Amino acid sequence: MNYPVWFLPAIGGGTLIAFIAIVHVFVSHFAVGGGAFLIALEKKAYKEENKEMLEIVKRFARFFILLTMVFGSITGVGIWFITALVNPGGISFLIHNFVFGWAAEWVFFVLEIIAAFVYYYTFGKMDRKTHLKVGWIYFISAWMSLFLITGIIDFMLTPGKWLESHTFWTGFFNPSLFPSVFFRTFMSFLMAGVFGLFVLSFYEKSAAKEKFVKYSSLWVIISIILMIPFALWYVSVLPVEAKSLVMGKSPTIVITKQVLTYSSIAGILLGAIVYLKPDFNKFFVSLIIFLAGFLIIGSFEWTREAARRPYVINKVMYSNMIFENEVESLKSEGFLKKAKWVSIRNITDENKIQAGKEIFIHQCYACHTIGGFNNDIKERAKSMSYTALARYIEKIHKVRYFMPPFAGTKEEAKALAAFIAGDLLGKEVKEPESQKLDGKTIFENNCSSCHEVEDFEDLISGWSKEKVRKALDMLDKLNEEMPPFEGTPKEKDTLTEYLLKISGGEK
Ligand code: HEC
Ligand code: HEC
Repeated sequence: MNYPVWFLPAIGGGTLIAFIAIVHVFVSHFAVGGGAFLIALEKKAYKEENKEMLEIVKRFARFFILLTMVFGSITGVGIWFITALVNPGGISFLIHNFVFGWAAEWVFFVLEIIAAFVYYYTFGKMDRKTHLKVGWIYFISAWMSLFLITGIIDFMLTPGKWLESHTFWTGFFNPSLFPSVFFRTFMSFLMAGVFGLFVLSFYEKSAAKEKFVKYSSLWVIISIILMIPFALWYVSVLPVEAKSLVMGKSPTIVITKQVLTYSSIAGILLGAIVYLKPDFNKFFVSLIIFLAGFLIIGSFEWTREAARRPYVINKVMYSNMIFENEVESLKSEGFLKKAKWVSIRNITDENKIQAGKEIFIHQCYACHTIGGFNNDIKERAKSMSYTALARYIEKIHKVRYFMPPFAGTKEEAKALAAFIAGDLLGKEVKEPESQKLDGKTIFENNCSSCHEVEDFEDLISGWSKEKVRKALDMLDKLNEEMPPFEGTPKEKDTLTEYLLKISGGEK
């Protein structure tokens, strides 16, 4: 609310970030793991006094420099450019707290670039020992970059003691720093191995190639296996809410975890086959291993991002750039009055829809597109009426932890509901006339956000009237995701009748 929102209704800022981040994460981890990989290969070639192997290492080094220096730098700038535009509030907060972390990272980055160039251009010209040392300087500075950025990124997920002390060091050495650093280090070795197999698949058959294929596949297998304990450690230090999202409360994370599992299995199996039969490392096989590596990284990063919901910085700032400690005052004084980048301050009947749109842009668009493929609000809210939405929005965070609380007045919640139900979904926007509620309305107001009427044919098929009535007293016990129903006993009776009716009657 202190910054303008870059509004691309059908794409969504999250998609943009995901797109650039995945490319950058891939390249930047490769830059770290590749360093270690080159040193290891070079040593191996020296040990065996094998010219052909050394030639391959040199070719690797050239490709490596091109990829990491050119592509890595472009995507590295790109990611800051995009994140700063999509979430200026979050980035500004991080810069204010960690500017020296970044400064240190830039120093290592410069060192990394210099070492990489020296390494490549002196290949075969410098004495062996010194050349390997240059390789080490490269690897260590690249790893230091990883270390420093990881501290800041994981602060966003687990701010830990920073929440009390607000100091640089407590924020940096946050609970998930070490599991994450180790996990990422092996992830970077995995990238190196995957890359080795892929590039080698284009090389002509030779004894040197065969050795390197075997060696690269070992990097793939061992890295994946070593990533597992650190992934478990990582999950174990998450705050309760994030943990429960990761352990199954978030439907998207559940799918992502399956992707992670299957790609890891595929990576290990194919890696093992290639190790036993290096000839098998054809283009398509190495491509599948490459994709498996890509999916492992992608699903890990996705899970880490999604586990932070509804925050961009856990317990501090929500994804929509509203600070947690601002919500109460926004609820009582009104969002539109305090926000800097809105045009409407007072809601009237005429501007209600427009006001709702502005609120949507500032509070919901961070995670919902309008008509896009990613979390489309039209799709999500299609079964809800205007009144149902208005009520839902007011308790949105209570019903669904992964969405931020609504930061605005009752009137503003209604304007938002009017925008979604009226403007986007073309439904009638009308205040309910009387307080007397029939079953259908009670259902719409309390259940329609998660259930369709048709669901109940299956959900309560065969249930007796008593069972349904009793269930309404303890919905939260029936399923973790369901909020308790807070209606009066009379309303519960009415709803029971209605539910039985829509399920095809008591049996
Ligand atoms: C931090 C991200 C985030 C923000 C911000 C957010 N949502 Fe959501 N919302 C989600 C996710 C994720 C889902 C889908 C969950 C699923 O896959 O079932 C969802 C689902 C929904 C649904 C479908 C019903 C339900 O409970 O699943 C509605 C309606 C909805 N959101 C409305 C809103 C409105 C209105 C706002 C703004 C006040 C908002 N959301 C802000 C993440 C968010
Ligand atoms: C925030 C989402 C949410 C809301 C709101 C919600 N439910 Fe559910 N409910 C669920 C989920 C998830 C399940 C699990 C079954 C499924 O996949 O539908 C469920 C299951 C049920 C079941 C079957 C329970 C069982 O043990 O088999 C009943 C009955 C039910 N809901 C009734 C209701 C009624 C009545 C309301 C409104 C007062 C309601 N629910 C509101 C999410 C919700």
